[in-house]
Amino acid sequence: MERYSSVFIAIFVLILRLAQAQNQTGFISVDCGLSPPESPYNAPQTGLTYASDAGLINSGKTGGIAKEFEPFVDKPALTLRYFPDGVRNCYNLNVTRDTNYLIKATFVYGNYDGLNVDPNFDLYFGPNLWTTVSSNDTMEEIIHVTKFNSLQICLVKTGISIPFINVLELRPLKKNVYATQSGSLKNLFRLYISNSSRRIRFPDDVYDRKWYPLFQNSWTQVTTNLNVNISTRYELPEGVMTTAATPLNANETLNITWTIEPPTTPFYSYIHFAELQSLRANDTREFNVTLDGDNTFGPYSPKPLKTETVQDLTPEQCSGGACLLQLVKTLQSTLPPLLNAIEAFTVIDFPQMETNEDEVAGIKNVQNTYVLNRISWQGDPCVPKQFLWDGLNCNNSDISTPPIISSLDLSSSGLTGVITQGIQNLTNLQYLDLSDNKLTGEIPKFLADIQSLLDINLSGNNLTGSVPLSLLQKKGLKLNVEGNPHLLCTDLCVSKGDVHKKKSITVPIIASIASIAVLIGALAIFFVLKKKTGSKVEGPPTSYVQASDGRSPRSAKPAIVTKNRRFTYSEVMIITNNFQRILGKGGFGIVYHGFVNGTEQVAVKILSHSSSQGYKQFKAEVELLLRVHHKNLVGLVGYCDEGENLALIYEYMANGDLKDHMSGTRNQFISNWGTRLKIVVESAQGLEYLHNGCKPPMVHRDVKTTNILLNEKFDAKLADFGLSRSFPIEGETHVSTVVVGTPGYLDPEYYRKNWLTEKSDVYSFGIVLLEIITNQHVIDHSREKPHIAEWVGEMLTKGDIRNIMDPSLNGDYDSTSVWKAVELAMCCLNSSSARRPTMSQVVFELNECLTCENSRGGAIRDIDSTSSLDVSLTFTTQVSPIAR
Ligand SMILES: *[C@@H]1O[C@H](CO)[C@@H](O)[C@H](O)[C@H]1NC(C)=O
Ligand SMILES: *[C@@H]1O[C@H](CO)[C@@H](O)[C@H](O)[C@H]1NC(C)=O
Ligand SMILES: *[C@@H]1O[C@H](CO)[C@@H](O)[C@H](O)[C@H]1NC(C)=O
Ligand SMILES: *[C@@H]1O[C@H](CO)[C@@H](O)[C@H](O)[C@H]1NC(C)=O
Ligand SMILES: *[C@@H]1O[C@H](CO)[C@@H](O)[C@H](O)[C@H]1NC(C)=O
Ligand SMILES: *[C@@H]1O[C@H](CO)[C@@H](O)[C@H](O)[C@H]1NC(C)=O
Ligand SMILES: *[C@@H]1O[C@H](CO)[C@@H](O)[C@H](O)[C@H]1NC(C)=O
Ligand SMILES: *[C@@H]1O[C@H](CO)[C@@H](O)[C@H](O)[C@H]1NC(C)=O
Ligand SMILES: *[C@@H]1O[C@H](CO)[C@@H](O)[C@H](O)[C@H]1NC(C)=O
Ligand SMILES: *[C@@H]1O[C@H](CO)[C@@H](O)[C@H](O)[C@H]1NC(C)=O
Repeated sequence: MERYSSVFIAIFVLILRLAQAQNQTGFISVDCGLSPPESPYNAPQTGLTYASDAGLINSGKTGGIAKEFEPFVDKPALTLRYFPDGVRNCYNLNVTRDTNYLIKATFVYGNYDGLNVDPNFDLYFGPNLWTTVSSNDTMEEIIHVTKFNSLQICLVKTGISIPFINVLELRPLKKNVYATQSGSLKNLFRLYISNSSRRIRFPDDVYDRKWYPLFQNSWTQVTTNLNVNISTRYELPEGVMTTAATPLNANETLNITWTIEPPTTPFYSYIHFAELQSLRANDTREFNVTLDGDNTFGPYSPKPLKTETVQDLTPEQCSGGACLLQLVKTLQSTLPPLLNAIEAFTVIDFPQMETNEDEVAGIKNVQNTYVLNRISWQGDPCVPKQFLWDGLNCNNSDISTPPIISSLDLSSSGLTGVITQGIQNLTNLQYLDLSDNKLTGEIPKFLADIQSLLDINLSGNNLTGSVPLSLLQKKGLKLNVEGNPHLLCTDLCVSKGDVHKKKSITVPIIASIASIAVLIGALAIFFVLKKKTGSKVEGPPTSYVQASDGRSPRSAKPAIVTKNRRFTYSEVMIITNNFQRILGKGGFGIVYHGFVNGTEQVAVKILSHSSSQGYKQFKAEVELLLRVHHKNLVGLVGYCDEGENLALIYEYMANGDLKDHMSGTRNQFISNWGTRLKIVVESAQGLEYLHNGCKPPMVHRDVKTTNILLNEKFDAKLADFGLSRSFPIEGETHVSTVVVGTPGYLDPEYYRKNWLTEKSDVYSFGIVLLEIITNQHVIDHSREKPHIAEWVGEMLTKGDIRNIMDPSLNGDYDSTSVWKAVELAMCCLNSSSARRPTMSQVVFELNECLTCENSRGGAIRDIDSTSSLDVSLTFTTQVSPIAR
């Protein structure tokens, strides 16, 4: 019974040992060049499971060593991968961060290419040089604590020699073994003292360290059949510890020598001892461990059948790189020194930090998403500098801090699909260029979360949706989204003129649908103005009509060209036939119909004398206006400034103002979206000309639908520009303190700061846009939200754009075009003038809207021909005065 149980225990122990030995947890065993169908396999002798490298590297070719070498090589080294293309080729390994790894790379040339030349290339560990491979059969090993969850091992071509690799092996170690003060360990040798030729590795060595036997003639072999206690943190194989040697001559020292290149390289040694002989009572074995004659440890006596490791706590150096380690018997020792095993490592520093791990994950996601097979896109994206990935730029000022990716240029790279999430992880990106690809989908909001971004170029793609508000709101960001035909609110950001200058401009904001600032601003003004102007909430209309000269309405010249544009008062009386026919009451006076040269119709505005700021200013102003010519500006034909009589003579606009056509006052209701768009495009062009084409730039100050006039061909022209500078609005006397404009259209910022810019016109223009979209009154007290911007904002938050659309359009419009227009309007209405688009941008956007609308199936309208306009009901030649 007792025998049975001891047998049972023996078997039990054996099973435990085997189970422990078979444990490959965390091992990475890569047979480079193995064809995937043969992967994985269990290697003979070790039983380790090797897998192909196919999933770990995208480049290289596979090969095998020549037949004649096969008998001398372990199975995993029979195949190899070689790298004829590219300078740096890298393996990407998934590891566990903060883990102490034994990492081995095996290179067996074996004349795989039939050229029979020794290799010579560099091996890199991430961004750092590991070693130069120059032997035809070598294994490189390091012990390294990983910092990240991924690891790159790179082969770098340094000359004509083509890099190759046969085996890659990673074994996780316990944390506290082979610890160093700093740096990693590069294996110099790992020897056990035996006169056999057997190499010991897995499964005998649980860490799969490879032990080579060492023996010298001056030694005598000592072995034991007893078990040696190997339970130390180094978990040495029993086969290593059950053999040892002592010098043949008992008085001799036991010497081990080696050399170190370069000579000053610090190293660590680990000397493993266990007393294998049973000592008699009067025997002692005691020795000192010396290096180059200096005592480093001792006196020391190995423990019977128990493993102990003598290790350096600080790195050592040998003079001249020639090391002599001696075990020197002490005087009292009766037995010679004994050695079981020894390992030595040089310290290897990997000073260059890897690129920020999250950024690496991000850029790899980009690479995988877009299947970018660029040969340079291997290994660390940023470092070493000579291997910087093509299209990237990095910030790498200091090797001890992780480099960061500062710029990514993937323009014209044939990218398809959506903008990948991976970019989100490039949190230090300043410059992102994805232009001229085939990217689709929406512009992701996460771009706005990348704080560092200064410049995004997404032009020339096929992005859809709208530019995220958060992105537009980002201060100091230059955003180019030109050439994305389906993108809403495009090109608000880089106007065409700015593209070449590459000037950084502030991005305008799309007013948030629920932008409280806008609404409150608009509301405040509305009430304040209401108070100021009493019942005259909707300022005086400024409609008037002008004579058509019958020439092309696109002519940039005014209708009537007279050498001398200054008319006498008596001439004005003749022109107007004694002020017979009133056309309307304009902003600064009554407008009369008239004829110049007997046939050509004009509109004559008689300025109320009291409104004049002063004769000199008026004259200067008028001289200026006479020089302003644009097809979308109502031309000033001449003026009269005789004494107290001031008059302006304009070209005649047969179809009155846009407001009439929106309200149906003229029985000419414009119910076609394309026509409305065409009218606002033209008005925008006129305004743009005032802002950019005039020197000095001119701010209109009173953009509104009643100041958009239509000629007989329904060409839109902007009226009443340039005057408000010298004429205060009716009823007000102190120009400097007066905010000029029409309630509802008035820029809240202008009102607040009394600071007039072109952007005030942009605001007013935004209101005009909302009017043509909604056909609602600018201010309507029957609405819960009286102000149109407020009302639209509220409707938009409720969701459906149809809620705000003018029902009389009957849904007959391109929704992209409408959305774009709505967004543009909201952009224009941003409470901050700096964030509104410029008129150039507005013109561009509206043209895009028009293109969208016109490209709608067969809905192209010849807007130069009145016959094709669906507004051609009755054409009157007169605008009835509107008094409100
Ligand atoms: C294998 O080793 C790992 C770590 O050393 C341990 O967590 C795991 O339990 C072991 N598995 C077996 C089957 O022994
Ligand atoms: C490495 O990890 C990544 C992410 O966890 C995974 O997608 C990839 O498949 C892994 N690669 C290998 C070879 O296991
Ligand atoms: C390496 O080179 C030596 C000398 O040229 C040769 O004897 C040996 O067989 C080669 N080994 C391999 C694996 O190529
Ligand atoms: C190794 O040493 C032992 C004991 O000294 C001896 O019996 C054996 O023959 C030696 N083996 C070899 C290969 O030298
Ligand atoms: C070793 O040294 C001691 C004293 O120094 C001497 O008596 C002894 O003979 C020496 N043994 C051998 C083998 O040389
Ligand atoms: C060991 O080294 C010492 C000093 O260099 C030398 O005197 C001695 O002969 C060496 N012993 C052997 C066995 O080589
Ligand atoms: C040690 O003791 C043994 C007997 O136990 C004896 O034969 C031997 O000579 C002694 N050796 C020494 C050095 O005293
Ligand atoms: C061994 O080391 C001790 C302590 O360092 C020293 O006193 C002794 O002289 C050394 N013995 C020999 C033989 O070197
Ligand atoms: C981004 O980084 C996080 C770690 O912060 C990582 O978990 C995630 O997988 C990365 N995302 C991508 C798309 O690479
Ligand atoms: C762009 O995308 C739209 C829809 O999102 C699609 O209809 C159009 O064909 C695409 N254009 C190109 C050039 O791929």
